[in-house]
Amino acid sequence: MTDQNLSPPDFSAVSIRAARVADFEQINALASLPGFRAGTLRLPFHSADQTRKWLESLGAGTTSIVAEINQQIVGHAGLHRSDGRRAHAANLGIGVHDDFTRRGIGKALLRALIDAADNWLNIKRIELTVYCDNAAAIRLYEKFGFEREGLHRDYAFKQGGFVDAVAMARLRKI
Ligand SMILES: CC(C)(COP(=O)(O)OP(=O)(O)OC[C@H]1O[C@@H](n2cnc3c(N)ncnc32)[C@H](O)[C@@H]1OP(=O)(O)O)[C@@H](O)C(=O)NCCC(=O)NCCS
Repeated sequence: MTDQNLSPPDFSAVSIRAARVADFEQINALASLPGFRAGTLRLPFHSADQTRKWLESLGAGTTSIVAEINQQIVGHAGLHRSDGRRAHAANLGIGVHDDFTRRGIGKALLRALIDAADNWLNIKRIELTVYCDNAAAIRLYEKFGFEREGLHRDYAFKQGGFVDAVAMARLRKI
């Protein structure tokens, strides 16, 4: 083990950048971690190849970003814009590496996507769905002005049972 491994990670060194297709292995490993996967709709045994194809398929309507510390990807988030008469709305997804939660990375990712939505993409409404038992994510969203709009009953199958999900949205003030 080197001295570097013994030092605690420097969280002031978190950088946010666009996701690249070349990140597919790291993003796949990150999103397959048990804590990350439990908060999402991701299926078990999702392969790196599937993640690469998904990254390759992202079009101009998707803003996909990663958080990086010392070249390790520790978080991923995305904003997917609707089209036609819902072009003012976008769906948000986010996840942080299981070993790096509660260190401000979720906030850094969300802040970056909200800035892009408000100030560059002219998105009025950011919407998302979150499992009812995901207190961490609900708290994070509330901190950034998301409000509860409704409940999806038996929304998804998770860990052997059906779970409800909350619909949340943040409407830009102006
Ligand atoms: C939800 C998630 C993105 C939060 O990321 P994070 O990097 O841990 O969040 P931050 O450290 O930036 O914390 C932001 C705020 O969220 C809230 N929060 C985060 N973890 C929390 C927890 N375990 N319990 C309660 N509140 C929590 C706090 O209000 C916190 O602000 P504070 O530190 O000022 O109190 C992360 O837990 C995660 O990736 N979970 C698995 C995937 C997932 O559920 N994604 C969301 C799908 S809808």
